[in-house]
Amino acid sequence: MDTLEAFVAALPKVELHVHLVGSASVETVLGLARRHPEAGVPTTADGLGEFYRFSDFAHFLTVYRVVSGLLREPEDIADLVRGIGRDLAAQNVRYVELQVSPYPFQGMGMPDAAVSEALSTGARDALARYGVRIGYIVDFPGHDAERDAWPALRFALDNPPDGLVGFGIGGDEARRAPYTDLIRDVFEAAHSAGLRCVPHAGETTGAQTVWEAVRFLRAERIGHGIRSLDDPALVSYLADRQLPVDVSPTSNVCTRCVPSIAEHPLRRMIEAGLFVTLNSDDPPMFGTSLASEYLVAGRDLGFSPAELAGLAANGVRASFLDAPAKEALLAEIAAVPRPA
Ligand code: ADE
Ligand code: ZN
Repeated sequence: MDTLEAFVAALPKVELHVHLVGSASVETVLGLARRHPEAGVPTTADGLGEFYRFSDFAHFLTVYRVVSGLLREPEDIADLVRGIGRDLAAQNVRYVELQVSPYPFQGMGMPDAAVSEALSTGARDALARYGVRIGYIVDFPGHDAERDAWPALRFALDNPPDGLVGFGIGGDEARRAPYTDLIRDVFEAAHSAGLRCVPHAGETTGAQTVWEAVRFLRAERIGHGIRSLDDPALVSYLADRQLPVDVSPTSNVCTRCVPSIAEHPLRRMIEAGLFVTLNSDDPPMFGTSLASEYLVAGRDLGFSPAELAGLAANGVRASFLDAPAKEALLAEIAAVPRPA
């Protein structure tokens, strides 16, 4: 382990933008794929590595849906959450806001109550065994909003898993448009019910989607938001309010939203005054981890240890943790010795 790796490992971290199925380790996916070979997910590590090479964002979403179809029983979900807790603890991640899409489970006929119970059990075990606290964000794919938006909110409100904090929207931004009114209504209802709203926006489409998120979806953070730089008025709006933008550099390259890490706008976003946090999105699918994203920022984007500690602190501040938990983590981050 070199000095930077040791520093990143020592930094207590929070992960604010990561998906449940997209966090399944290669071992977990291979185990499920071997149990359900008809699902079409490769059963060897090499095959899965190839399966996880995405030609574009739509291809990524297709693969994501196929892998989601491997989870057939509530116990698969509880096991997955426990494994995520283990993998995060190994990186010194203390708290995660994990995005869960109920639609594949609803589509398979799993009762919402059983899925919710599995999420709660997994979170309880992750905390007890690995010391990782989980907050849940229930979301739905915007391109299937007509089918999935209200069932996602009903899942969240009628069967809230322990640790439920928020509501989100993912999927293909370009195919959200026909459902604009429906999406606004469901977010308004989520907000009224006390959920914190964290839409993906400005990942695959432009600044207009981020405007929609802040004007009409009650966004308290933006998922990705990398296209915000396209619009100076939007940059001013986000910077003035210090509205956090959750950035995942490796994800953006793997889904071909950004051509290469060297061209990733992370640093430009910070220089423009945006409040940025660093995240991993769907780590094993992108061959990354939260710790790796800090290393990418340090090695490929030139962030100093002090800047990396600043990103870790931003994550804590932008989280939905309570104030004492934030203070404790910020003090721990400040106490990690910085390498020269
Ligand atoms: N679902 C899982 N990962 C996603 C991403 N990066 N964008 C939109 N939807 C997703
Ligand atoms: Zn995401």
